[in-house]
Amino acid sequence: MDKFQFYLPTRIIFERGCLSKIGELASKYGKKCFLMTMGEFATKYGFTEYILDKISERELSVYLYDEVEMNPTERGVNKINELFVDSRCDVIIAFGGGSVIDAAKAVSLLAKLGGKIGDYYFPNVVDKELYPIIAIPTTCGTGSEVTKYAIITEDETGKKKTVLGDTLLPKAALLDANTLKYLTKSIISSTGADVICHCIESFTSNKRSPFSDMFAVESAKITFEYLPKAFNGDEEAKERMLYASCLGGAAINTAGTTAAHALGYYLSSKYHIPHGIATVMFLPHVIDYEIESIKGRIEEFSYGIKLGAPAEQFTEKLGELLNQVDVPKSLGELGIKVDDKNKIVQEGLSFRRNLENNPVKLEEKDLTAIVEKAFKGRPAIK
Ligand SMILES: [Fe+2]
Repeated sequence: MDKFQFYLPTRIIFERGCLSKIGELASKYGKKCFLMTMGEFATKYGFTEYILDKISERELSVYLYDEVEMNPTERGVNKINELFVDSRCDVIIAFGGGSVIDAAKAVSLLAKLGGKIGDYYFPNVVDKELYPIIAIPTTCGTGSEVTKYAIITEDETGKKKTVLGDTLLPKAALLDANTLKYLTKSIISSTGADVICHCIESFTSNKRSPFSDMFAVESAKITFEYLPKAFNGDEEAKERMLYASCLGGAAINTAGTTAAHALGYYLSSKYHIPHGIATVMFLPHVIDYEIESIKGRIEEFSYGIKLGAPAEQFTEKLGELLNQVDVPKSLGELGIKVDDKNKIVQEGLSFRRNLENNPVKLEEKDLTAIVEKAFKGRPAIK
């Protein structure tokens, strides 16, 4: 049997309504909470007030920062870090999607170890104890509440950079499906697409293990069944997707992601395409390009998630799912200029960590062929 290591120290509390436990939970980790949220969302629907109440019930004090930006930048996390240090808080509560949780990871690191966030980019690996984070995801896709990664945008170049290390993992994650009630269809679609990428990429990654496979298969099984229902507003299905997202995060936490993620980053940084959509635009084409080498894995995955499609038909089934949640079929439909083809490839090549995880060694000509296919679009369903 394959050897493996699996490490997941995050306490996961999964229960509709468990946001009520935030005060009790925070009191285990500190006395002064730094609550991070994004824009109006948390305030408009009463979540901020509710969390503040629950924290003060436990006689903890709190500092609220409610301006976390989408796709956190170096400048953004530096600013939040200054406020965190001045506030003398000792625990961070991140209420939001992947951007908020990633920004929280960067702040917990900077506040404890000092310096600039750029000092810690991969290939550096963070291993020192940091400020504790309680993550409360309000989307169902990134799985960031159970991953050791934070993606930060470099100010000078606009490129996505990765900070990683086991100590970035949140100490606890509160998964409360009530927080998903107001999600828009487009957020459900893009975050659900991210889950699919996490499952398939981790299942085919060179760093996969029997343990990560188990999370990936279970997550994908749920996603194929419940993502379209969640997209159509079914609250129970959204709860299932919250679970699937967490499982997908657990899978990539050790197995990592591969070529589709590498290619997707340019679309997010240059065109501000949501991460899940940017990534899934390449996923079927990566699978088709590599199918001769990964046929067995794809078939195992397909039967494992009870899709029952032979490897050759797998991307067609995947396309059916993506069509049901309105994922654009081609890069052109997404508004990407053909002139940017080479930039997408070059940026993809710079994500060496993802390409090293990829089951097939992909070079410039291979990525170019995949990107060209993504411009042509997903094959029509027969
Ligand atoms: Fe992702």
